[in-house]
Amino acid sequence: MKKKLTALTLAVAMAATMAGCSGSGSQAETEAAETTAAAETEAADPAAEDESTEAASEEAETEAAAGELKTAQEGKLVMVTNAEFPPYEYHEGDEIVGIDAEIAAAIADKLGLELVIEDIAFDSIIPELVSGKADFAMAGMTVTDERKQSVDFSNTYAKASQKVIVQEGSDITTPDDLTGKIVGVQLGTTGDLYVTDLEAEGTTVERFSKGFEAVQALSQGKVDAVVIDEQPAQVFVSQTEGLVILDDSFTDEEYAAAVKKGNTALLNAINDALAELDEAGELDAIVAKYITAE
Ligand code: ARG
Repeated sequence: MKKKLTALTLAVAMAATMAGCSGSGSQAETEAAETTAAAETEAADPAAEDESTEAASEEAETEAAAGELKTAQEGKLVMVTNAEFPPYEYHEGDEIVGIDAEIAAAIADKLGLELVIEDIAFDSIIPELVSGKADFAMAGMTVTDERKQSVDFSNTYAKASQKVIVQEGSDITTPDDLTGKIVGVQLGTTGDLYVTDLEAEGTTVERFSKGFEAVQALSQGKVDAVVIDEQPAQVFVSQTEGLVILDDSFTDEEYAAAVKKGNTALLNAINDALAELDEAGELDAIVAKYITAE
């Protein structure tokens, strides 16, 4: 299995690790995937045991899983996101486009379900999953231990980091310089979480409902810095005069899809679909459409 890193450090790290431990190394990944796939195929359909090729048995498995899936709305796969996060999800005319939107569409396609995307506030995504109104979330969502208390995460599909955006010529030159400053974040994100930790040291956190609003506040001098994920940071800075991204990352993170805790059937189906998309090179192709290596 190949892992491709673009110059922007986004890796479509996949995902064939059926063990579900995010960020685990690639050692024996393929082997683990094959073993699990075979075991699941057997459980779902003993007759499928004789399938001669790996590809055929994987496909049978995904379809079998899809047949048993109960979703929030029959025949549909309801995804929640917050479409204020280019290049992962954003509005283009009436449509929600981006890496997550396209991966989600490919997953729904594999499961034979119609994808419905709901655009809501980022901090409402987990409650929406917990209530069962939506089936899954893809929102450039970072896997964290705290979130794992409420949702189950798929295998990770991208690497990310929190970056610091400042005005050109700012005296903030490393993340350590944020102490005592006014820092803008998107409410409920990991950026919010990390900067909130600095409050004890005298940092003030300004929470915005959209990341781009935080960036606008920065360019108007209302905040001293913005902490946000690297890829949206690149997009926002390219759209705004006079801003720069610091070299040092605040944290390293990984993105995954999330389902309601205990929805193993859907989680397995998503992981299988992701693995198939990765093997077919489709994940790389989707990422390459939105992120060009420097
Ligand atoms: N990766 C960060 C987090 O999980 C930010 C995600 C924001 N996503 C969005 N679609 N607005 O907290």
